[in-house]
Amino acid sequence: MDTAPTLSELSARTAARFAEVFGQAPNWTVAAPGRVNLIGEHTDYNDGFVLPMAIERYMVLAAGPAAAAESGQSSGNIIRVFSDLIGSAQTFTVGQVAELPPWCVYLHGVFDLLAKRGLNTGPLEVLVTSTVPLGGGLSSSAALEVATATLVEAVTGQVLDGRDKAKLCQQAENQYVGMPCGIMDQFSSALCRAGEAMRLDCRSLETTPVPLSDPNVSILIINSNVKHELSNSEYPVRRAQCEEAASALGVKSLRDVDPAALAAGWSKLSEVAYKRARHVVGEIARVLEFSDAAANADWSTAGELMYASHDSLRDDYEVSCPQIDTLVELAQSIGPSGGVYGSRITGGGFGGCTVTLCETAKAAAIADRILAEYKDHTDIEAMAFTSRPAQGAHVVRYQ
Ligand code: GLA
Repeated sequence: MDTAPTLSELSARTAARFAEVFGQAPNWTVAAPGRVNLIGEHTDYNDGFVLPMAIERYMVLAAGPAAAAESGQSSGNIIRVFSDLIGSAQTFTVGQVAELPPWCVYLHGVFDLLAKRGLNTGPLEVLVTSTVPLGGGLSSSAALEVATATLVEAVTGQVLDGRDKAKLCQQAENQYVGMPCGIMDQFSSALCRAGEAMRLDCRSLETTPVPLSDPNVSILIINSNVKHELSNSEYPVRRAQCEEAASALGVKSLRDVDPAALAAGWSKLSEVAYKRARHVVGEIARVLEFSDAAANADWSTAGELMYASHDSLRDDYEVSCPQIDTLVELAQSIGPSGGVYGSRITGGGFGGCTVTLCETAKAAAIADRILAEYKDHTDIEAMAFTSRPAQGAHVVRYQ
C-alpha cells in the first residue's frame, strides 16, 4: 500500500524546497486536496447530484514576493513558478498571452481571472509540489487551480466565498485550459470537510454532509496507471450527447427527467443518446440512495450501488476501459466475505482510478491481492492507498 507524507510534513518539505530554489523562506504555504468521487459520475454537468470526498493527497504551493529588481517592474504581476514535480521553472506575466506549458496554464488562468477582479498579488515566486497522482482521475488539475486561488487569497488578504472560488476555478479550466468540466472537482477541493463526504446538488450548489467516520469502513483508491488520450476528446462528446437528449425530451437538463419520463420518451432519442440519458438518470438516483445507505451504515447496499454505477458507466456511458473493468472485477471477486462491499471507476474515465468500499481491517490484504492479480492480468503495476475524508483547501502557514 502506498503511503504519503502528512500535510504538515509535506508543507515543511515544500517550504524547505522553496528556500533552496529561491534563497529565502516562503511567506505563504497553501494546500488544496485531490478528491475521489464515491458515486455520481458524469452527473455534475447534467445539474445532478455527486458525492465526492477530498483525499489526504494535496497540491501544495509555497510563495514569497519576488524582488522588484529581479522581476524588472515592481507593479506587474510577474509570476516565477518552479514545479518540483517536473524540476522545471517558468515565468509568466498575468494577463499576457504566451505559450505556456500545460501545467502553467492552470495557474495562469486563476491568477488572470482573479486579477480581473482586482486581486493583484504583485510579483511572486511560487514553488509547486504535490502528492495527488497526476492525471489519475483524482483531480490534480482542480487541486492546482484551487491551491492557486487560495494562494492569491492569502497574498491579497481578500478571501472569496467558497462557492464563488470553486466556480472561478472551473471557469479557469473551461476558458484557459479548454476542458468543459463540470463543477464537482473544484467544489470538492475548495469545500470538502474532514470526516465527511459531500453530497452536492450541482443545480442549486447546496451541500449535504454525508458522515464517513466509521473506523471499520475504508475508502481504497487504486490507480490503474492507465490513461487513455480519449478522456479529453470524449468528455465534450458525452456532454453534447446529454444536451441532445435533454433537448429532445424538452427539458433544461437530464436532472429534470425521471426513469418513467425517460421510458416514455425513448422514441424521441437516438440509441446512443438514450443510453447516455439512462446512465445519468439512474446515476442521479443512485447518489441519493447511496447517501441514505451511508447514513444508516448499510455498507452492503452502498456497495451494490457502486457496482451498479460501474456497470452503467461501462455499458451505457462507455467511459470505462478493460484495465479498470479488471480492477473492479477483481474487487468484486473478493466479495463481502473478503471485506469488499463495492467498487467502481471514479472520475472522468478512460483509465485513472477505481474506488472501493471495504472493511478497514482487511484493506491492506485486499489491496495486495488486487495489485498482484492485476499485474498478472495486465502486466501493469497499479498503485493503491486508503484515505479518510480530508479538509478542503486552506492556508497552511503564513510567515
Ligand atoms: C471530470 C470532470 C468533472 C466530472 C467528472 C465525471 O472529473 O472534471 O466535472 O464531470 O469528470 O463525473
